[in-house]
Amino acid sequence: MTPSLIKSLVLGAVTAIVFAAGAVVVQARSQAILHERHPLRPSAVQAATAPEAIAEGRHLVQVNGCALCHGRELAGKMLGAAGSPLAAPNLTRVVARRTDAELDRAIRGGVRPDGTSEFGMPSHVYAGFTDAETDAIVGYLRSLKPVGAPTPRQEPGFMQRVDLAVGFMHPEVNRIAGAPRPIDLGPRLEPGRHLAALACAQCHGTDLSSGHGAPGPDLMVRGGYTRAQFHTLMRTGQTPSGRELDLMSETARLSFSHFTDAEIDALYDYLYARDVRLDAAPPKKG
Ligand code: HEC
Ligand code: HEC
Repeated sequence: MTPSLIKSLVLGAVTAIVFAAGAVVVQARSQAILHERHPLRPSAVQAATAPEAIAEGRHLVQVNGCALCHGRELAGKMLGAAGSPLAAPNLTRVVARRTDAELDRAIRGGVRPDGTSEFGMPSHVYAGFTDAETDAIVGYLRSLKPVGAPTPRQEPGFMQRVDLAVGFMHPEVNRIAGAPRPIDLGPRLEPGRHLAALACAQCHGTDLSSGHGAPGPDLMVRGGYTRAQFHTLMRTGQTPSGRELDLMSETARLSFSHFTDAEIDALYDYLYARDVRLDAAPPKKG
Protein backbone atom coordinates (compact mmCIF):
# COMPACT_ATOMS: atom_id res chain seq x y z
CA MET A 1 0.00 0.00 0.00
CA THR A 2 1.30 3.41 -0.92
CA PRO A 3 1.33 6.10 1.79
CA SER A 4 -1.22 8.14 -0.20
CA LEU A 5 -3.62 5.18 -0.36
CA ILE A 6 -3.30 4.65 3.42
CA LYS A 7 -3.93 8.35 3.95
CA SER A 8 -7.13 8.34 1.90
CA LEU A 9 -8.35 5.12 3.60
CA VAL A 10 -7.83 6.69 7.02
CA LEU A 11 -9.54 9.90 5.89
CA GLY A 12 -12.46 7.88 4.53
CA ALA A 13 -12.83 5.96 7.78
CA VAL A 14 -12.69 9.15 9.88
CA THR A 15 -15.32 10.80 7.67
CA ALA A 16 -17.59 7.76 7.96
CA ILE A 17 -17.26 7.75 11.76
CA VAL A 18 -18.02 11.48 11.97
CA PHE A 19 -21.13 11.06 9.78
CA ALA A 20 -22.33 8.04 11.74
CA ALA A 21 -21.86 9.87 15.04
CA GLY A 22 -23.72 12.91 13.61
CA ALA A 23 -26.61 10.71 12.51
CA VAL A 24 -26.84 9.16 15.98
CA VAL A 25 -26.94 12.61 17.62
CA VAL A 26 -29.59 13.84 15.15
CA GLN A 27 -31.71 10.75 15.75
CA ALA A 28 -31.51 11.04 19.54
CA ARG A 29 -32.15 14.79 19.70
CA SER A 30 -35.01 14.77 17.21
CA GLN A 31 -36.59 11.74 18.89
CA ALA A 32 -36.59 13.56 22.24
CA ILE A 33 -38.23 16.64 20.66
CA LEU A 34 -40.80 14.58 18.72
CA HIS A 35 -41.85 12.58 21.78
CA GLU A 36 -41.90 15.37 24.35
CA ARG A 37 -45.31 15.61 26.08
CA HIS A 38 -46.85 19.03 26.61
CA PRO A 39 -49.67 19.90 29.00
CA LEU A 40 -53.21 19.57 27.60
CA ARG A 41 -54.79 22.95 28.34
CA PRO A 42 -58.46 22.87 29.32
CA SER A 43 -60.75 24.13 26.57
CA ALA A 44 -64.25 25.56 26.76
CA VAL A 45 -64.81 25.31 23.00
CA GLN A 46 -68.10 23.76 21.92
CA ALA A 47 -68.86 23.07 18.27
CA ALA A 48 -71.43 25.61 17.06
CA THR A 49 -74.63 24.17 15.68
CA ALA A 50 -76.61 27.29 14.66
CA PRO A 51 -76.61 27.73 10.86
CA GLU A 52 -75.29 31.34 11.07
CA ALA A 53 -72.37 30.24 13.25
CA ILE A 54 -71.55 27.34 10.91
CA ALA A 55 -71.61 29.78 7.98
CA GLU A 56 -69.25 32.03 9.95
CA GLY A 57 -66.97 29.02 10.54
CA ARG A 58 -66.94 28.29 6.82
CA HIS A 59 -65.99 31.92 6.12
CA LEU A 60 -63.16 31.79 8.67
CA VAL A 61 -61.83 28.57 7.15
CA GLN A 62 -61.97 30.11 3.66
CA VAL A 63 -60.19 33.39 4.40
CA ASN A 64 -57.59 31.90 6.74
CA GLY A 65 -56.02 29.54 4.25
CA CYS A 66 -56.90 26.12 5.71
CA ALA A 67 -57.47 24.82 2.17
CA LEU A 68 -53.98 25.91 1.13
CA CYS A 69 -52.57 23.01 3.16
CA HIS A 70 -55.52 20.72 3.87
CA GLY A 71 -56.72 20.80 0.25
CA ARG A 72 -59.70 22.44 -1.42
CA GLU A 73 -62.21 20.09 0.17
CA LEU A 74 -60.13 19.86 3.40
CA ALA A 75 -59.70 16.18 2.47
CA GLY A 76 -55.96 16.21 3.16
CA LYS A 77 -52.86 17.04 1.15
CA MET A 78 -49.20 16.11 1.01
CA LEU A 79 -47.00 19.15 1.57
CA GLY A 80 -43.51 19.14 0.13
CA ALA A 81 -41.02 19.97 2.87
CA ALA A 82 -37.27 19.88 2.38
CA GLY A 83 -36.05 16.32 2.76
CA SER A 84 -39.33 14.70 3.56
CA PRO A 85 -43.03 15.14 2.95
CA LEU A 86 -45.47 16.44 5.54
CA ALA A 87 -49.13 15.47 5.58
CA ALA A 88 -51.93 17.93 6.32
CA PRO A 89 -54.64 15.51 7.51
CA ASN A 90 -58.05 14.93 5.96
CA LEU A 91 -60.13 17.12 8.29
CA THR A 92 -63.43 15.68 7.04
CA ARG A 93 -62.31 12.29 8.45
CA VAL A 94 -60.42 13.55 11.52
CA VAL A 95 -63.32 15.30 13.24
CA ALA A 96 -65.28 12.14 14.10
CA ARG A 97 -62.28 10.85 16.08
CA ARG A 98 -61.65 14.07 18.06
CA THR A 99 -63.44 15.91 20.86
CA ASP A 100 -64.11 19.66 20.56
CA ALA A 101 -61.32 20.29 23.06
CA GLU A 102 -58.89 18.19 21.02
CA LEU A 103 -59.75 20.11 17.87
CA ASP A 104 -59.32 23.41 19.72
CA ARG A 105 -55.91 22.33 21.02
CA ALA A 106 -54.92 21.19 17.51
CA ILE A 107 -55.96 24.53 15.97
CA ARG A 108 -54.97 27.07 18.65
CA GLY A 109 -52.57 25.11 20.84
CA GLY A 110 -50.32 23.18 18.46
CA VAL A 111 -50.82 20.04 20.54
CA ARG A 112 -52.01 16.60 19.45
CA PRO A 113 -54.38 14.51 21.62
CA ASP A 114 -51.42 12.56 23.07
CA GLY A 115 -49.69 15.78 24.19
CA THR A 116 -46.94 15.74 21.55
CA SER A 117 -46.45 18.89 19.49
CA GLU A 118 -47.73 19.38 15.97
CA PHE A 119 -45.36 20.25 13.15
CA GLY A 120 -46.26 22.40 10.17
CA MET A 121 -49.73 23.39 11.42
CA PRO A 122 -49.56 27.18 11.99
CA SER A 123 -51.13 27.28 15.46
CA HIS A 124 -48.75 30.11 16.37
CA VAL A 125 -50.94 32.20 14.02
CA TYR A 126 -54.31 30.61 14.79
CA ALA A 127 -53.79 31.01 18.55
CA GLY A 128 -55.35 34.45 17.89
CA PHE A 129 -58.81 33.06 17.09
CA THR A 130 -61.36 33.99 19.75
CA ASP A 131 -63.35 31.29 21.57
CA ALA A 132 -66.47 32.17 19.54
CA GLU A 133 -64.52 31.94 16.27
CA THR A 134 -63.13 28.55 17.30
CA ASP A 135 -66.64 27.32 18.21
CA ALA A 136 -67.72 28.36 14.69
CA ILE A 137 -64.74 26.70 12.95
CA VAL A 138 -65.14 23.44 14.87
CA GLY A 139 -68.89 23.51 14.17
CA TYR A 140 -68.23 23.98 10.47
CA LEU A 141 -65.66 21.14 10.37
CA ARG A 142 -68.17 18.86 12.08
CA SER A 143 -70.81 19.76 9.47
CA LEU A 144 -68.66 18.49 6.57
CA LYS A 145 -69.53 15.29 4.77
CA PRO A 146 -66.59 12.85 5.04
CA VAL A 147 -64.78 12.68 1.69
CA GLY A 148 -61.62 10.92 0.52
CA ALA A 149 -59.40 8.57 2.47
CA PRO A 150 -57.88 9.25 5.90
CA THR A 151 -54.40 10.73 5.51
CA PRO A 152 -51.61 8.28 6.30
CA ARG A 153 -49.46 9.34 9.24
CA GLN A 154 -46.04 10.62 8.13
CA GLU A 155 -42.85 9.73 9.95
CA PRO A 156 -40.45 12.67 9.82
CA GLY A 157 -37.62 12.07 7.36
CA PHE A 158 -33.92 12.55 7.97
CA MET A 159 -33.82 16.17 6.75
CA GLN A 160 -36.72 17.13 9.02
CA ARG A 161 -34.88 15.46 11.90
CA VAL A 162 -31.74 17.46 11.08
CA ASP A 163 -33.80 20.68 11.01
CA LEU A 164 -35.28 19.79 14.40
CA ALA A 165 -31.96 18.81 15.94
CA VAL A 166 -30.20 22.02 14.87
CA GLY A 167 -33.21 24.22 15.70
CA PHE A 168 -34.26 25.29 12.16
CA MET A 169 -37.64 23.71 12.72
CA HIS A 170 -39.53 24.14 15.99
CA PRO A 171 -42.30 22.18 17.62
CA GLU A 172 -45.44 24.22 16.92
CA VAL A 173 -46.38 24.38 20.60
CA ASN A 174 -43.11 26.24 21.34
CA ARG A 175 -43.74 28.86 18.66
CA ILE A 176 -46.94 30.22 20.19
CA ALA A 177 -45.80 32.05 23.32
CA GLY A 178 -42.97 34.04 21.74
CA ALA A 179 -44.72 35.08 18.52
CA PRO A 180 -44.78 38.91 18.29
CA ARG A 181 -48.17 40.46 17.42
CA PRO A 182 -48.90 43.23 14.90
CA ILE A 183 -48.64 46.64 16.58
CA ASP A 184 -51.73 47.82 18.48
CA LEU A 185 -53.23 50.94 16.89
CA GLY A 186 -56.28 51.29 19.10
CA PRO A 187 -59.85 49.98 19.16
CA ARG A 188 -61.00 51.56 15.87
CA LEU A 189 -58.34 49.68 13.90
CA GLU A 190 -58.53 46.47 15.96
CA PRO A 191 -60.82 44.60 13.50
CA GLY A 192 -58.26 44.99 10.70
CA ARG A 193 -55.43 44.06 13.02
CA HIS A 194 -57.28 40.91 14.07
CA LEU A 195 -57.92 39.91 10.42
CA ALA A 196 -54.29 40.53 9.42
CA ALA A 197 -52.91 38.69 12.44
CA LEU A 198 -54.83 35.60 11.34
CA ALA A 199 -54.95 35.74 7.53
CA CYS A 200 -51.65 37.42 6.62
CA ALA A 201 -49.29 36.49 9.47
CA GLN A 202 -48.61 32.98 8.27
CA CYS A 203 -46.55 34.33 5.36
CA HIS A 204 -45.79 37.94 6.30
CA GLY A 205 -44.64 37.21 9.88
CA THR A 206 -46.75 37.27 13.05
CA ASP A 207 -46.08 41.02 13.48
CA LEU A 208 -46.41 41.46 9.67
CA SER A 209 -42.80 42.60 9.31
CA SER A 210 -41.55 39.41 7.64
CA GLY A 211 -38.35 37.79 8.95
CA HIS A 212 -37.82 34.33 10.52
CA GLY A 213 -38.20 32.49 7.23
CA ALA A 214 -41.53 34.15 6.33
CA PRO A 215 -41.91 33.95 2.54
CA GLY A 216 -43.73 37.31 2.20
CA PRO A 217 -42.27 40.84 2.61
CA ASP A 218 -43.07 43.38 5.35
CA LEU A 219 -46.74 44.16 4.77
CA MET A 220 -46.47 47.74 3.56
CA VAL A 221 -49.31 49.01 1.39
CA ARG A 222 -49.05 52.79 1.59
CA GLY A 223 -46.31 53.13 -1.03
CA GLY A 224 -47.85 50.74 -3.52
CA TYR A 225 -51.58 50.38 -3.13
CA THR A 226 -54.56 52.72 -3.15
CA ARG A 227 -57.65 51.34 -1.44
CA ALA A 228 -59.15 50.33 -4.80
CA GLN A 229 -55.93 48.62 -5.91
CA PHE A 230 -55.80 46.76 -2.58
CA HIS A 231 -59.36 45.51 -3.14
CA THR A 232 -58.31 44.27 -6.59
CA LEU A 233 -55.27 42.47 -5.13
CA MET A 234 -57.40 40.74 -2.49
CA ARG A 235 -60.13 39.74 -4.94
CA THR A 236 -58.10 38.74 -8.01
CA GLY A 237 -54.41 38.57 -7.06
CA GLN A 238 -53.72 41.35 -9.61
CA THR A 239 -51.11 43.97 -8.66
CA PRO A 240 -51.44 47.61 -9.82
CA SER A 241 -48.96 46.96 -12.64
CA GLY A 242 -50.83 43.81 -13.67
CA ARG A 243 -47.93 41.63 -12.51
CA GLU A 244 -48.87 38.10 -11.50
CA LEU A 245 -47.30 37.23 -8.14
CA ASP A 246 -46.33 33.76 -7.18
CA LEU A 247 -47.80 32.50 -3.90
CA MET A 248 -49.60 35.77 -3.10
CA SER A 249 -51.83 35.90 -6.19
CA GLU A 250 -52.77 32.25 -5.79
CA THR A 251 -53.59 32.76 -2.10
CA ALA A 252 -55.65 35.87 -2.86
CA ARG A 253 -57.81 33.95 -5.32
CA LEU A 254 -58.13 30.89 -3.08
CA SER A 255 -58.66 32.64 0.26
CA PHE A 256 -58.94 36.44 0.21
CA SER A 257 -61.52 36.59 -2.59
CA HIS A 258 -63.91 35.37 0.15
CA PHE A 259 -63.39 38.49 2.32
CA THR A 260 -66.32 40.90 2.47
CA ASP A 261 -65.77 44.46 1.22
CA ALA A 262 -65.97 45.65 4.83
CA GLU A 263 -63.23 43.21 5.85
CA ILE A 264 -60.94 44.37 3.02
CA ASP A 265 -61.56 47.98 4.08
CA ALA A 266 -60.74 47.13 7.69
CA LEU A 267 -57.52 45.41 6.60
CA TYR A 268 -56.51 48.38 4.46
CA ASP A 269 -57.30 50.87 7.22
CA TYR A 270 -55.13 48.97 9.66
CA LEU A 271 -52.23 48.33 7.26
CA TYR A 272 -52.22 51.96 6.03
CA ALA A 273 -52.20 53.29 9.59
CA ARG A 274 -49.45 50.81 10.45
CA ASP A 275 -47.31 52.21 7.61
CA VAL A 276 -47.92 55.75 8.82
CA ARG A 277 -46.95 54.72 12.35
CA LEU A 278 -43.83 52.94 11.15
CA ASP A 279 -43.23 55.70 8.56
CA ALA A 280 -42.40 52.92 6.19
CA ALA A 281 -43.07 54.46 2.79
CA PRO A 282 -43.95 57.80 1.16
CA PRO A 283 -47.69 58.35 0.65
CA LYS A 284 -49.15 57.15 -2.62
CA LYS A 285 -50.14 60.02 -4.93
CA GLY A 286 -53.52 60.18 -6.65
C1 HEC B 1 -49.30 25.62 6.48
C2 HEC B 1 -50.15 24.46 6.38
C3 HEC B 1 -51.42 24.39 7.19
C4 HEC B 1 -52.43 25.33 7.29
C5 HEC B 1 -52.52 26.68 6.61
C6 HEC B 1 -53.43 24.74 8.15
N1 HEC B 1 -53.04 23.51 8.57
FE1 HEC B 1 -54.03 22.31 9.90
N2 HEC B 1 -52.49 21.00 9.85
C7 HEC B 1 -51.37 21.08 9.06
C8 HEC B 1 -50.49 19.96 9.34
C9 HEC B 1 -49.16 19.67 8.65
C10 HEC B 1 -51.12 19.20 10.33
C11 HEC B 1 -50.58 17.94 11.02
C12 HEC B 1 -49.80 18.44 12.22
C13 HEC B 1 -49.20 17.36 13.07
O1 HEC B 1 -49.94 16.51 13.58
O2 HEC B 1 -47.97 17.38 13.24
C14 HEC B 1 -52.38 19.88 10.64
C15 HEC B 1 -53.28 19.45 11.61
C16 HEC B 1 -54.53 20.01 11.81
C17 HEC B 1 -55.53 19.49 12.74
C18 HEC B 1 -55.37 18.26 13.62
C19 HEC B 1 -55.77 17.03 12.89
C20 HEC B 1 -55.76 15.80 13.76
O3 HEC B 1 -55.31 14.76 13.27
O4 HEC B 1 -56.20 15.87 14.91
C21 HEC B 1 -56.63 20.30 12.64
C22 HEC B 1 -57.95 20.16 13.39
C23 HEC B 1 -56.31 21.33 11.68
N3 HEC B 1 -55.03 21.12 11.21
C24 HEC B 1 -57.18 22.35 11.31
C25 HEC B 1 -56.80 23.44 10.52
C26 HEC B 1 -57.65 24.60 10.30
C27 HEC B 1 -59.05 24.77 10.82
C28 HEC B 1 -56.92 25.46 9.52
C29 HEC B 1 -57.29 26.85 9.07
C30 HEC B 1 -57.80 27.76 10.10
C31 HEC B 1 -55.64 24.82 9.24
N4 HEC B 1 -55.61 23.60 9.87
C32 HEC B 1 -54.62 25.38 8.48
C33 HEC B 1 -51.09 22.08 8.16
C34 HEC B 1 -51.82 23.25 8.00
C1 HEC C 1 -49.56 31.83 1.72
C2 HEC C 1 -48.68 32.94 1.92
C3 HEC C 1 -49.24 34.34 1.95
C4 HEC C 1 -50.32 34.82 2.68
C5 HEC C 1 -51.23 34.04 3.60
C6 HEC C 1 -50.37 36.25 2.43
N1 HEC C 1 -49.37 36.61 1.58
FE1 HEC C 1 -49.07 38.48 0.80
N2 HEC C 1 -47.41 37.83 -0.16
C7 HEC C 1 -46.91 36.54 -0.10
C8 HEC C 1 -45.67 36.48 -0.86
C9 HEC C 1 -44.78 35.25 -1.02
C10 HEC C 1 -45.46 37.78 -1.39
C11 HEC C 1 -44.32 38.22 -2.29
C12 HEC C 1 -44.80 38.12 -3.73
C13 HEC C 1 -44.93 36.70 -4.17
O1 HEC C 1 -43.91 36.07 -4.41
O2 HEC C 1 -46.05 36.18 -4.25
C14 HEC C 1 -46.58 38.60 -0.93
C15 HEC C 1 -46.75 39.92 -1.25
C16 HEC C 1 -47.76 40.73 -0.79
C17 HEC C 1 -47.92 42.14 -1.11
C18 HEC C 1 -46.99 42.95 -2.01
C19 HEC C 1 -47.39 42.71 -3.43
C20 HEC C 1 -46.55 43.49 -4.40
O3 HEC C 1 -47.09 44.39 -5.04
O4 HEC C 1 -45.35 43.19 -4.50
C21 HEC C 1 -49.05 42.58 -0.47
C22 HEC C 1 -49.64 44.00 -0.50
C23 HEC C 1 -49.58 41.46 0.27
N3 HEC C 1 -48.78 40.34 0.05
C24 HEC C 1 -50.71 41.51 1.07
C25 HEC C 1 -51.18 40.45 1.84
C26 HEC C 1 -52.29 40.56 2.75
C27 HEC C 1 -53.07 41.82 3.05
C28 HEC C 1 -52.45 39.32 3.31
C29 HEC C 1 -53.50 38.88 4.31
C30 HEC C 1 -54.87 39.22 3.99
C31 HEC C 1 -51.44 38.43 2.70
N4 HEC C 1 -50.69 39.16 1.84
C32 HEC C 1 -51.31 37.09 2.99
C33 HEC C 1 -47.47 35.46 0.53
C34 HEC C 1 -48.63 35.50 1.28
